[in-house]
Amino acid sequence: MSRAEEKRAAELREDIERHSELYYSHGKPEISDREFDALMRELIDLEREHPELATPDSPTQRVGGAPVEGFEQVAHDPPMLSLDNTYSLEEVEDWVGRLDRLAAGEPQGVPRAYVTELKLDGVSISLLYEGGVLRQGVTRGNGTVGDDVTANVRTIRNLPLRLEGDPPARLMLRGEIYMPRPVFDALNRLREKAGAPLYVNPRNTTAGTVRLLDSREVARRRLEVAVYQSATEIAPSHSESLEMLAGYGLPVRSEWQCCADVAEVEAYIERWREPRHEMPFDTDGVVIKVDQLDLQERFGRTSKAPRWAVAYKFAAEQARTVVKAISVQVGRTGVLTPVAELEPVFVGGTTVSRATLHNYEDLARKDIREGDTVLVEKGGDIIPKVVSVLTELRPGDSVPYEIPTQCPVCGEPVVRYEGEVAWRCVNAACPAIVRESVSHYVGRNAMDIEGLGDKLIDQLLAKELITDYTSLYSLKKDDLAGLDGWGEKSALSLLAQIEKSKGRTLAHLLHAVGIRFVGERVGRTLAEHFGDLDALVAASNEELEAVPEVGPKVAESVVRFFSDPHNQERFETLREDGVNLTQPRAESTDTDNPVAGKTVVLTGTLTGMTRGAAKKRLEALGARVSGSVSRKTDLVVAGEKAGSKLKKAEDLGVEITDEAGLLELLGG
Ligand code: IVH
Repeated sequence: MSRAEEKRAAELREDIERHSELYYSHGKPEISDREFDALMRELIDLEREHPELATPDSPTQRVGGAPVEGFEQVAHDPPMLSLDNTYSLEEVEDWVGRLDRLAAGEPQGVPRAYVTELKLDGVSISLLYEGGVLRQGVTRGNGTVGDDVTANVRTIRNLPLRLEGDPPARLMLRGEIYMPRPVFDALNRLREKAGAPLYVNPRNTTAGTVRLLDSREVARRRLEVAVYQSATEIAPSHSESLEMLAGYGLPVRSEWQCCADVAEVEAYIERWREPRHEMPFDTDGVVIKVDQLDLQERFGRTSKAPRWAVAYKFAAEQARTVVKAISVQVGRTGVLTPVAELEPVFVGGTTVSRATLHNYEDLARKDIREGDTVLVEKGGDIIPKVVSVLTELRPGDSVPYEIPTQCPVCGEPVVRYEGEVAWRCVNAACPAIVRESVSHYVGRNAMDIEGLGDKLIDQLLAKELITDYTSLYSLKKDDLAGLDGWGEKSALSLLAQIEKSKGRTLAHLLHAVGIRFVGERVGRTLAEHFGDLDALVAASNEELEAVPEVGPKVAESVVRFFSDPHNQERFETLREDGVNLTQPRAESTDTDNPVAGKTVVLTGTLTGMTRGAAKKRLEALGARVSGSVSRKTDLVVAGEKAGSKLKKAEDLGVEITDEAGLLELLGG
């Protein structure tokens, strides 16, 4: 490569970036699209000839590369949480009230402030910059693990491949990818011309686009991104972080605002209620965040969402339709859910033909009947709901809906437990319950038996080849090979999947068998704490409650589950079939290090490393790093200017160490 070529590549890169910026950030292009494409073409050719010239931040990365086979899975650290929703100003006030109560008794520092932002209706993305260069883009996935869609993210033109200014060496960001309305409309016009089915709404189209395997196609779709959060601590408040991010050249939407109190929050919501329709992107609400990071940390999070932020959802679009029938769904736990079968109607961007009626109490309160004309609403949620009945349109012969006294699937009488709203079928052999529980058992986050879809489960149950999830392990090749459309090869491949599932961890198994209140996360906590099934089964309520994040409800449910003879029998069968009933030690195998299995809280400022790095290293040693101090905390590491957490630790008599002590624990 000659000096001249190297120089030309640098020149081209600079020109292209400048013209992109003129186009995207200022809306004032100086050259035509054609001229722009010519510059890009020249750079692509140069880089192809001299691959050493290609850098991850070269604008050519935006054109997209050859299709990939699939996406790598990447773990999120910290996890990508979702938000709790509110639907009225009262609910927003309730949220503030909850924060007030949580803060009561804490030392009063600077008054709490809020940041309000528009809630973009797209697809969330985690972005990683290292040394100022975009390294990775990962979808939310299940919040813990997502898909590495870096090649696709690089094609998003308003996202800088290299940051300006002086960003931290490692910067983890969270944002929303969306398809601007005009882009979506143009895409659909093209499809209409081509006679292709139209896309339903920008959000679904964005979700589909982000996960395309061919990034060249993604590049054509003109997605945009808005960054709304720094997952790396870069400033003491969210508002200052947003300003810094904008300073790095990142696309932070400018509509955000600082609010001193709930009245200002409400004014912001009101101010955007109407004008949001004029924006070139879909918004479904406002996100309200506590501004100060130390307060955020104090409020902490639940397993799903932060307590320090909440979404206010604008009233969803409504439409009128007719209830053709009311049917009943029997879920995995036996709960009967009434469902309205609707005359199909287009609402909130999709065609809706069924809506959940939640439960019979709700149904009776709204007095929904077959034949009624109703208002249905589709919010940001996938599941539409029936809002109200237009009683003036009710047919003369209509009769109130009656709650079934028998399970519509197995015919056994239904029951209602004290204090519960739900009616349940409690027949463990009810085909609906068995079907749903098998379907749950084989799920990807449970025992992960690929190829065992609901249709096949139905066939296996109908032919009595299985009776519950334990009987999957007795399936024989000939059982399967005899099914419609099945041959030896597909049978063997499914059997191999079933065999493989025996090696899943105890955590997966606990989630798979569907113990009430034990989902993925609690399942893992229990499995990691007890190490194997026998220890878990032997645990008393008190021992269970001593486990971090396990409360009396979970403890009670676990004890009840394992004292049920049916469940005992099932686990015996699983054991005999060779299903793994143990949990590998969390990451670390080094059990004699002093922090393994301990709950540690980091507070204050560390000088030698970031808190995130300390957390990672502690976790690698088998510790659990928590955000708040409680009686279950084993150790508090107090950095400089440690505040309320240190005080609480002292009050509770929890062991405390400083940064030097931490370094010692980490082995220097
Ligand atoms: S903050 C821990 N801010 O809404 C912080 N989210 O319903 C959690 N979203 O998954 C998110 N605009 O994809 C935040 N300004 C905004 C947002 C926003 C859109 C999305 C995001 C999140 C979802 C939760």
